[in-house]
Amino acid sequence: MFNYSFGVGVYYFMGLYRAKILGTGLYYPQKVVTNDDLARSIDTSDQWITERTGIKKRRISSTDGGEFPTDMAMNAAFIALKNANLSANDINCIIFATFTPDYRLPNCATILQTKLGITNGCAAMDIAAACSGFLYGLNTANAFIQTGMMKNILVIGSEMLSREVDWSDRGTCILFGDGCGVALVGRNEDANDSSEILATKLGADGSGRDFLYQTYGGSVNPITPEIAASRERYLTMNGKEMFKVAVRTLAEISLSAVEAAGLKGIDEIDWFIPHQANHRILEATADRLSIDPKKVIINIEDYANTSAATIPTAFHQAVSDGRIKRGQLLLFSAFGGGLTSASTVLRY
Ligand code: COA
Repeated sequence: MFNYSFGVGVYYFMGLYRAKILGTGLYYPQKVVTNDDLARSIDTSDQWITERTGIKKRRISSTDGGEFPTDMAMNAAFIALKNANLSANDINCIIFATFTPDYRLPNCATILQTKLGITNGCAAMDIAAACSGFLYGLNTANAFIQTGMMKNILVIGSEMLSREVDWSDRGTCILFGDGCGVALVGRNEDANDSSEILATKLGADGSGRDFLYQTYGGSVNPITPEIAASRERYLTMNGKEMFKVAVRTLAEISLSAVEAAGLKGIDEIDWFIPHQANHRILEATADRLSIDPKKVIINIEDYANTSAATIPTAFHQAVSDGRIKRGQLLLFSAFGGGLTSASTVLRY
């Protein structure tokens, strides 16, 4: 009944059950910050940011409350529950992907459990896989459902990067924004319903950890009063290296997921939703994959890079505006700090 085949960092599993996306949701903070707004405080311009990244604006969470990662997730989850026609207590497991959690302890998933009013004692865990976090969560949810261990899983990508970015560093701050996207994943027991997660790939290359990192805030280097007052606590990035790795990794992992799904080629994919890091990365990846640019879903212009939230937000928007329809084949691919990477092929 089970078919296992192990490779380096990847696995295929023919499970007892099929998993499908039941509903999606998103939340973006109210505050909009444009490139021109940034140009008032750092040496940059709308023209430079637009040409190099495709980004025009981003959303920034309120620090007064109501828009922290679990707040955004609560709002997005209620939308997904409504779309899936489920109630909060139908959720068996919460998988919360973030590297900007509300607190170090407890995790975001347990905070969200309470905010959603869940009283069934469901499992609740966080995943730290940077920008690949949502797909790590989705692929984990798929495995839990395939084995029969869980029935309905809420997968979240929610980030408040504005807290971790040095707003005086023009090389990084222009790229990032805040937001949250969620997907409810559930068991598909209807033989006439073709919706199914078909293939998943997870990978990582720890040798690239120095391309995107934060030195302070963990056990090795706690944040002292001196560090808190300095710029050293913020996210540090080697943009050029990340760019090269991104294009190569996104293309490679996408192709291996398409192959694992048993498709004849990438032409069969109806929509490609890549992690939104830079418009030029997405163009170069589409070119490398020889996928029609019209099939690539892009929302980076209005929301920038929201890390684990980029794929579920872009997905929800394209479902809501009717571009993505039930029965279509979708490809999701991500890469991020670590360097983590992940890809999923599904029939929506
Ligand atoms: N505004 C104006 N000038 C800027 C600038 C800004 N915001 N940021 C950098 N510059 C300047 C640099 O100082 C440099 O000037 P110099 O030639 O006088 O030294 C010049 O522009 C070119 O900088 P460079 O860093 O080479 O630009 P780039 O084309 O590599 O673009 C990034 C920089 C960050 C936009 C790009 O490398 C990138 O997007 N990388 C991927 C990042 C990523 O995806 N991270 C997240 C992964 S999950």
